[in-house]
Parts: sequence; C-alpha cells; structure tokens
Amino acid sequence: MKPIVVRESRGLQGTISVPGDKSVTHRAIILGSLARGTTVVKDYLSAEDCLHTASAFRLMGISIEDKNGRLRIEGKGLHGLSEPATVLDLGNSGTGLRLLTGVLAGQDFFSVVTGDESLRRRPMRRVVDPLRRMGAEIEGREDGNRAPLAVRGRRLKGLTYALPVASAQVKSALLLAGLLADGRTVLTEPLPSRDHTERMFRGMGIPLEIEGNQLLLSPPSEFSGREIVVPGDFSSAAFFIVAATIVRNSELRIRDVGVNPTRIGLLEILAEMGAEIRFENRREFDHEPVADLIVRSRPLRAVRVKPESVPKTIDEFPILCVAATAAEGETVIRGAEELRMKESDRIRTVASELSKMGADLEELPDGLVIRGGRKLSGARCSSHGDHRIAMALAVAGLTASGETAVEGAEWIETSFPGFQSLLKSVTA
Ligand code: S3P
Repeated sequence: MKPIVVRESRGLQGTISVPGDKSVTHRAIILGSLARGTTVVKDYLSAEDCLHTASAFRLMGISIEDKNGRLRIEGKGLHGLSEPATVLDLGNSGTGLRLLTGVLAGQDFFSVVTGDESLRRRPMRRVVDPLRRMGAEIEGREDGNRAPLAVRGRRLKGLTYALPVASAQVKSALLLAGLLADGRTVLTEPLPSRDHTERMFRGMGIPLEIEGNQLLLSPPSEFSGREIVVPGDFSSAAFFIVAATIVRNSELRIRDVGVNPTRIGLLEILAEMGAEIRFENRREFDHEPVADLIVRSRPLRAVRVKPESVPKTIDEFPILCVAATAAEGETVIRGAEELRMKESDRIRTVASELSKMGADLEELPDGLVIRGGRKLSGARCSSHGDHRIAMALAVAGLTASGETAVEGAEWIETSFPGFQSLLKSVTA
C-alpha cells in the first residue's frame, strides 16, 4: 500500500461517525459463539482483528455470517465448539489471541493459536500462568510466553486471583475460562481496566457480582444469544478528537461514540489541557454509554498524566503525545510501561517518529517527556507495523509544515478501515 500523505490543514469541519468498537466486537463474537441460539451484532467492526476472531470460531464449527452489515452468529452453547482441524491464526490481535486462549483452555479438545510476527513477540505468560492455575495445559515458546501456544483443553477449576497488571485482556481471558470452570472465579485488579466483558455478561444474564475492584463469577450452565448494538470505537474517535482540537478553525461532531468511563481517560486529560469537548445526546447501547461528541479547536497547555489515568487511556497515548507536541510546556507521562507491550513498543516508536518531525521529546523507561509548542515539520515516517502509530502520525502531519508521509499505512486496516478517506472528507 502507498504511504499516507498528509499536508498542513486549515481546519476540520463536519459530522462523522467512526467504525464499531473493536473490544466490544471481539466480545460479541466470542460470547455469541458460546451462547445458545442466535446473536445478531449490529454496527460491528468489520476490520482484520475482529475478522480473525470470527474465522477462529468458524473453524470450531460456529456459523458466523454477515447479513446486510449485521453479524449473525449461531451459538451452540458453552460446550458446543468442535476441535479445529488447523491452527487458529489471530493475525495482529492481542485481544483475539488472549481471550481465545481463555476459551480454549476449558474445551475438551486440542488447539493451537498463533498470530503475525508482532503478536508472536508479545507476552502471553500473563494469561498462561493464571490459566495453568485453573488446571489448563498450555505449551509455547519460552515456557508458554510466546505464541504459537498449544492448548490441550481440560476441565478447569475456578480461580481466586489478583491481577499483577491492570489488563482487560487478562481479566477477560480469565472470566471466559471461569465460564467453563467448576466453582467460582474471583478476580481483583490493581486499577480498573475496560469493563466491556462485565457489561456484556450482564446483558447476557451471566451472574457476575462486582464489589469494588473485585469480580465474582458463578458459572452458568448456559446463556442465550441476543441482539447487540456496538457503539463507535472511542479509540478511533480519539484521532479525530485530537485533530479537531489542535488544528485551528476546526469544529467536528462525532456521532454515536462509546464513552464507557473505563475508556475515556483521554477526554479527562484533554480537558485539563484546555480542550473543548461537549457531550450531547447521551444514551446507552446494551449497557454501554454512548454520546455525540462536539470538538472545537483550542490552544492546549502541558499536563502531568496521573498514574491512575493510564489504564483508561492505554490505547490513546500515541495520539495524546501528538496533542502534547502542540501544547505549551512540558507534558510528562509516567507509569505507562505497558505501552512497550503493544503492537509496537509505543514509547520507542512514538519518540523516534515524532522526533523525525522535529518534536522535542525524551523516552523514559515507563513513559515520555514532551516539550511542546514548537511547530512540527513534515517528514517521512514509519508506522512500525502499528495501526495507532500510523494514525497518530497522520494527525501530527495536519499541524506540520510541508508534507508528511507515513509508510506502513496498511496496518490501519486492523482497526479502522476507511480512516484515510474519513480524514480527507473533514479536511477538504
Ligand atoms: C483490550 C485491552 C487493552 C487494549 C487493547 C484492547 C481489550 O489491552 O490495549 O487494545 O479489548 O481487552 P491490555 O489488556 O493488554 O491492556
């Protein structure tokens, strides 16, 4: 694919909507496959990451079809999957691979899960260790830390576990394994991570109690399929929120965006930086809060990101760093070492690519320092195979003099098909 080429913009205008939420779509496919009966998923994200999850369940005998833009899943119940005849390839998706490993650990068959080069480098012991405690038999490179993972499904037992890191992928993998286990599963998290699994469990009538930072799951014998409406992905909207904030003379309305409180750390941080973002038309789609967001450009000031904001901002750091380059003063991000475990090492890739554009920033072991307020200059940059780095750099290019070219733009397809044409439509 050709690089994305972006020039300095004179303002973003219009009303847009962004594709469906990636996290919610993964969970809808997984829970729809484990439910009894039909699940219809409206406004789902038809992007590579989620399509890989759907293909994996098809290989385990589940019918999943797109009918007029809605996904129709014929679930066969908690124990209705069949042994896949080949390796399950989750592509670039950490969520797909980690959540699926939780499901496979409790099946009565053998399976192998893998992914692309980036995913095969990412740590898996964070799910493999607690699953082993539940009785799972999982092998992989580096004693199960790297995919491919071979899973010999077993009858699992419930687990009481304190997660060492706030991770929705780990929490969700364990909750899914807990659905298939004997006895209760009790989990605690150091800080709240995104709670889409908990909300979808509630929607599907799965008994999950939440007491403070503790989750108590009593596994049901089965649950039924239903209709799920997927909100727009806040993490996709984030690129347009920051673009409309930092490019002068902008006013953008983004419709139907998921505003789950465990996801919108970026909005809190931008508000502290002086941004103007209004909520309108607040409502709920299946236990998930949704709103239209109206964003106007504003001058920003630097901020110190609080450690407790990290989990609810986790996917937004690349674009937050772009906002920080436009803000007056020194922005400090600490306690964000998890960024090194994403699709790329996002501390390193953000620092290397934004400095090519003339940004003044410094890499820390667990974050970044960004001295903003200096105009960026267009440059030739690389996505490093990371969709969010590609999109963040394209937005940075809107404020830079001259021309910015982002190579490796094809990775955007993993989460945001149509990003480039949508950006063009509001900057024209
Ligand atoms: C996700 C959880 C987060 C996030 C990822 C999606 C999910 O990962 O970065 O993009 O859907 O559960 P971690 O759980 O590893 O923080």
